[in-house]
Amino acid sequence: WAAFSDDIEAILTLKRERNAVILAHNYQTPEIFHCIADIVGDSLALARKAMTVEAKVIVLAGVHFMAETAKLLNPDKIVLIPDLGAGCSLADSITAQDVRLMRQRYPGVPIVTYVNTSAEVKAESDICCTSGNAKAVVESLGVRRVIMLPDEYLAQNIAAQTDVEIIAWKGHCEVHERFTPADIRELRESHPGATVLAHPECPPDVVAEADFSGSTAAMSDYVERHKPPRVVLMTECSMSDNVALAHPDVEFIRPCNLCPHMKRITLGNIRMALEQNRHVVTIEPGIAGRARLAVERMLAI
Ligand code: 13P
Ligand code: SF4
Repeated sequence: WAAFSDDIEAILTLKRERNAVILAHNYQTPEIFHCIADIVGDSLALARKAMTVEAKVIVLAGVHFMAETAKLLNPDKIVLIPDLGAGCSLADSITAQDVRLMRQRYPGVPIVTYVNTSAEVKAESDICCTSGNAKAVVESLGVRRVIMLPDEYLAQNIAAQTDVEIIAWKGHCEVHERFTPADIRELRESHPGATVLAHPECPPDVVAEADFSGSTAAMSDYVERHKPPRVVLMTECSMSDNVALAHPDVEFIRPCNLCPHMKRITLGNIRMALEQNRHVVTIEPGIAGRARLAVERMLAI
């Protein structure tokens, strides 16, 4: 921690001076997650908490769609993303025009859009979901068939838990698509008794081999509740680092994949974001109104 202390001290001072709070996703590195963040969690928790922030400035230590969601839900705040290149392969897999074409192709079928998308894509959707509430959102619509965009694997994993027919898109998370069922089988052999938790962005055959699947918050809660002696989190690497710090008695086995987008956020660029008020997240008013509606419908469930 000593290597980080200069930036940490500066950021804590800047937060007070600028009346700012830092929202950090579970995939942020421990020095961000544990030392400077005010609010941490999965995408759903960050969206909910962003709504109630009273400070003037929100720094989103996460990826761009999370910063946009915070801006949608609390539009009077200055929302900063420390690196504009912090994107997401799922958000990049679909455009607003693609959503309009899906609506033309399947008239009358509601469109559920994962929050890992741009505000433009959300604006074309009926309702959003996260990995933490996707099944509840799909079932809340009371219809036989829904379109679920853009994560093919999340759609397939939810389809396995519900009678609602799900029409999927072909987007994938570049981090979770790399896990395979063979990885899990090898792990179980080399680390007998390990409990395997997989994020629902993993392919369905990976989820089928795991002991539990859930959002990053659900994985963290699982470890808290069950305290397995050995655990594997099939997800982004910092997740294990952050949860392990709170559970010294649990052995974390770590075949993990880094998210290059999440890793663009550092103490250095968070400090600069606060010093130089950058990069301010803006959303065109014509898009923001409709995108907000889709996110608010989700939060109302
Ligand atoms: P969670 O909503 O589960 O935190 O997931 C967000 C994400 O980007 C996972 O890759
Ligand atoms: Fe996007 Fe995957 Fe990175 Fe999450 S882990 S931000 S879904 S690329």
